[in-house]
Amino acid sequence: MTDDLSDRTILLTGGTSGFGRVAAVDLAHRGATVAVVGRDESMGATLVEQSSDLAGTIAFHQADLASQSTVRSLAATVKHEYDHIDVLAHNAGLSVGSRRESPDGIEITLAVNHLAPYLLIYELLDHLRDAPNPRVVITASDIHRRATLDFDDLQLTDGYDSLDAYARSKLANIAFTIELDDRLPDDSAVTVNCVHPGFVPSTDLFREASLRTRLLVRIAGLVPGVATSKQAAADRLQTLLVDPQYGSVSGQYVGSDGPADPTPEATNQVVRRRLWEMSAELVGVPPDWPTPRTN
Ligand SMILES: NC(=O)c1ccc[n+]([C@@H]2O[C@H](COP(=O)([O-])OP(=O)(O)OC[C@H]3O[C@@H](n4cnc5c(N)ncnc54)[C@H](OP(=O)(O)O)[C@@H]3O)[C@@H](O)[C@H]2O)c1
Repeated sequence: MTDDLSDRTILLTGGTSGFGRVAAVDLAHRGATVAVVGRDESMGATLVEQSSDLAGTIAFHQADLASQSTVRSLAATVKHEYDHIDVLAHNAGLSVGSRRESPDGIEITLAVNHLAPYLLIYELLDHLRDAPNPRVVITASDIHRRATLDFDDLQLTDGYDSLDAYARSKLANIAFTIELDDRLPDDSAVTVNCVHPGFVPSTDLFREASLRTRLLVRIAGLVPGVATSKQAAADRLQTLLVDPQYGSVSGQYVGSDGPADPTPEATNQVVRRRLWEMSAELVGVPPDWPTPRTN
């Protein structure tokens, strides 16, 4: 573990609750400047209060990442307020019980879990490149193994199932990570990885899920050896964010024992490229990014 993080500025979405909140406090305890993003103002305020005695600082940026205009405003704020960002950690995620759409008319799980990091990284990539060894980390999940990316109905308009929508968004996280790594110019110092934090039933992830899903999560959490604690998940996330061992590792899906093979669909180049292009269209950006830096 790297103990002194006083030179590190970390943008952490999904840091208001769950293991993201634990990681935010730990990182600030080690001296980092942590910019936490979430929707819940009061959770953000108590987190800032809680960090007042720590070596580093936590700032809260209220943003609903379901909205693309909010993601763009957040990126503008970050560029204005932080002269550099060493780590962009996209940990925000949700699962909902029944199908609903974002303000942009996109199925909400896809919008928050996949399109928000796609757009936020697009908007902040050049700013990240100002840091000496910038890292991008996305929180994915092993549940992606039950998913498939049906490009004819990516937003599950037909026969919605909330766990399918969630698993699909996490498969998209991994395919996006691998495709972004492939597309980063050779001279780029940016690394991009995604992580499976473990099964952490003690978080608020399934707060909006159906009763059936919440019950299943609770029962599964009681099976010995299955659940991961919030602290253990936060530790795993932090390893990718700041540990030297991941300083030059890129394009990996990381589980409990280090880099692991995701489902073959995540590595399939045709699938990755199609997802990239559809994502670009859905958030309204040109698909031919990243481009080499001009300055
Ligand atoms: N728990 C597990 O078993 C598990 C397993 C694998 C992967 N994961 C992933 O781990 C990450 C963290 O989840 P968690 O388990 O710690 O759940 P959690 O306690 O519900 O935390 C989710 C975080 O995401 C934020 N968030 C959700 N929707 C948002 C939105 N529209 N805009 C901005 N922020 C939003 C929440 O903040 P606000 O409430 O303030 O908006 C919260 O900070 C997620 O990506 C999840 O998919 C979890």
